[in-house]
Amino acid sequence: MNRVHIKTYGCQMNERDSEAIAAMLRARGYTIVNAEAEADIILLNTCSVRDQAEQKAIGKAGRLLKDKHRATPALSAPRLRVLGLMGCMAQNRGRPLLESLPDLDLLVGTQKFHHVPDHLDNLLASWRGLGPRPSTLVELDTEADSQNLLRGHSPGRQVSALVSIMQGCDMRCAYCIVPKARGAERARPMEDIVDEIRGLAATGTREVTLLGQIVNHYGKREYPAVAGKTPFVQLLERIHAIEGIERIRFTSPHPSGFRQDLVNCYRDLHKLCEHIHLPVQSGSDQILRAMRRSYTRDQYLRTVNALRAAHPGMCFSTDIIVGHPGETDADFAKTVALFDEVKFDMAFIFKYSTRSGTESADMGDTVPRDVKESRNQILLERLAATSLARNQTLVGTTQEVLVESPARKGRDIFMGRNRGNRKVLFPGNAAHVGLLLPVRVESATTTALQGRALA
Ligand code: SAH
Ligand code: SF4
Ligand code: F3S
Repeated sequence: MNRVHIKTYGCQMNERDSEAIAAMLRARGYTIVNAEAEADIILLNTCSVRDQAEQKAIGKAGRLLKDKHRATPALSAPRLRVLGLMGCMAQNRGRPLLESLPDLDLLVGTQKFHHVPDHLDNLLASWRGLGPRPSTLVELDTEADSQNLLRGHSPGRQVSALVSIMQGCDMRCAYCIVPKARGAERARPMEDIVDEIRGLAATGTREVTLLGQIVNHYGKREYPAVAGKTPFVQLLERIHAIEGIERIRFTSPHPSGFRQDLVNCYRDLHKLCEHIHLPVQSGSDQILRAMRRSYTRDQYLRTVNALRAAHPGMCFSTDIIVGHPGETDADFAKTVALFDEVKFDMAFIFKYSTRSGTESADMGDTVPRDVKESRNQILLERLAATSLARNQTLVGTTQEVLVESPARKGRDIFMGRNRGNRKVLFPGNAAHVGLLLPVRVESATTTALQGRALA
């Protein structure tokens, strides 16, 4: 009765939180299973950033609860005993979720997700006692809790690991629900982060991705600048010095407050991979202002150029929202022009989704659905063309690839990433996992490179 399946929606923060829960549960003797059908306990770690993400998780929870009821002891023994919702949507929507999902066993918000293992222990104990089904256990404190920043990895499991360096967000972008879902910004102590990464390095992790909503604001309040270097840059330098760690990435920085000390890191810290995810959201100053993104199109482009000057091989990815309230054809044309100018290697393009309680929600959803859709398509086509062109320039080159895992079960194709964060597929074997291999690129698609290992 202790087989747990965790399904994760949303961003890498949620992925890392799911990993943290999995590690805590393993330590208590639970087994984490990949197949839903084998689980006694299913946890959905949810996202609230767009309506679609919420609907997916609500639909999933509804179906699971229905199946749970349908299974009767007379038939095959019911497998699923416990269904829990945790994460951003649990926090954001809270108790009203129980109106449509009254049989949920667990509803735990973002500040207290580290209590989930205790809650499961208790639920299972009452189950064994064959008492009546306890009512839904709800824990939705909004007060920021730094305990949820504690390390959370099962060491020795990952070549590439996600490491949380901060929680929450104080930015209040007009369209965004994350500050409500994740609470106020707080930094994890630098010593703690360095310690966790040392431990990861000692057990085989070669690459770390530092996570936060605005990583370049890391520790602003907690740590002073030293010799003109912000706390985030100080942290990068300390991680750079850890033996065994070969690559450093982070996501996401905010274009405002992206200073020269951070730009210089791309010149000075060779472990820092020359790929940056720098969300722009829009190419129109008017829309940026409405979004309360505190930079202009020009400032954004200046940062891009400074980064390219610091490292000529720099690769860029971004987030864009199309159809924010008030976005005209002329505004959108500016986004397209910026897109063409930067030539992003990758981009996540989102159709604006009204989040109730945000400032943008008060502006109304003024851009019709079909206009959002066509703007979305235009950018996707542009992206496919630039990604393919960028990838094709790599055919014939040799790329340094950190080998992560087999690409497909039962075949000898392995996958890794080059420093620019492109997926690279090549014929390999299990001994390659965890190595930095030179791979000669033979062909390219929009999303991946194929090649042959030289060593
Ligand atoms: N903290 C990160 C972004 C986190 S949310 C940053 O500021 O860069 C990830 C992305 O979701 C955002 O960059 C934005 O492009 C998108 N997003 C956020 N709210 C949205 C909304 N209401 N509708 C559509 N997309 C949204
Ligand atoms: Fe949302 Fe803005 Fe914070 Fe990013 S910086 S999480 S977009 S409020
Ligand atoms: Fe979604 Fe929460 Fe991440 S709302 S995008 S899972 S921070």
